[in-house]
Amino acid sequence: MDLPRKVKLVEVGPRDGLQNEKETIPVEVKVELVDRLTAAGLPNIEAASFVSPKWVPQMATSTEVMARIARRPGTLYSALVPNMKGFEAALAARADEVVIFGAASEAFSNRNINCSIAESIARFADVARAAKDHGLRLRGSVSCSLGCPYQGEVEPSAVADVVRRMRDLGCDEIDIADTIGVGTAGQVRRLFDALATEFPLERLAGHFHDTYGQALANILAALEAGVSIFHSSVAGLGGCPYAKGATGNVATEDVLYLLRGLGIDTGVDLDAVVDAGQFISAHLGRKAASRAGNAMAARRAAAGTTLTP
Ligand code: HMG
Ligand code: MG
Repeated sequence: MDLPRKVKLVEVGPRDGLQNEKETIPVEVKVELVDRLTAAGLPNIEAASFVSPKWVPQMATSTEVMARIARRPGTLYSALVPNMKGFEAALAARADEVVIFGAASEAFSNRNINCSIAESIARFADVARAAKDHGLRLRGSVSCSLGCPYQGEVEPSAVADVVRRMRDLGCDEIDIADTIGVGTAGQVRRLFDALATEFPLERLAGHFHDTYGQALANILAALEAGVSIFHSSVAGLGGCPYAKGATGNVATEDVLYLLRGLGIDTGVDLDAVVDAGQFISAHLGRKAASRAGNAMAARRAAAGTTLTP
């Protein structure tokens, strides 16, 4: 199959990336990060999550962040919501899209959202109805689609089952998430080929964490399967710096570099994303986890070119 000519990138750094940071990040830093990503042309930014602050303290300022970001018409600002309480908060914060997040593994569902897969779908049904009533876009995320930290292997049939249930709830888009970054290219290809019979391929997304260094290869495999929506995190944000081996999503800069080389259009300004990555990494006091981003920043430094303001 020919590769897609266009790809939609969903930037998840402000949510999936920052949610793992132990130190509280000031609202103004989060806002500046989102604003830089907006200015870079990212069409969809996952900017917030309305979950229990006891579970994920870093996301407790989501309402303030959503109130202060400079929204660009046409850019979608998404928020994770596990239940109606989260939905009400996302609605009040003017999220364009709400994301219900389930899992293909019972063990992970219980640990992440404290309920079984079946219970989660029942909760999501209320959210889905409310989203439709208010004209909000609805996205579903399926964690552990390529492996689970607790149960190990996950059967494609278990992923397909959750995809079907999310489809029946009316999801506009469904994310196939490799939460712990264990999947490999052949497995990714087979999974998307199987899922294409359950849900339109053009509305399935690849959400790959890069823990085992497979994410770019997995994106290429998914592109070859016809997938054209990918999630990525500026500077490769994510993972816990104190948990050995845990890493974030594939870096947006690296994905953009790959796609540019393939001649695939994203409408995103790679240089501006490199700046955003260097900005947040400087704030966090560590090097960006983006090979392409760091290489481009180093070249600029050698050439004496300053970062754009
Ligand atoms: P629970 O304890 O079963 O819920 O948690 P509950 O309904 O019994 O409520 C307990 C307390 O939480 C109550 O407060 C509620 O008000 C509060 P208390 O009375 O004790 O003071 N609460 C909330 N507060 C704010 N916003 C809410 C909310 N809901 C309840 N929406 C719950 C269930 C789902 C709430 C909890 O487990 C939770 O918040 N989990 C968060 C999970 C999370 O955010 N995980 C990270 C995101 S998922 C992810 O990263 C994966 C993804 O990237 C894809 C991939 O890579 O796999 C998407
Ligand atoms: Mg994730």
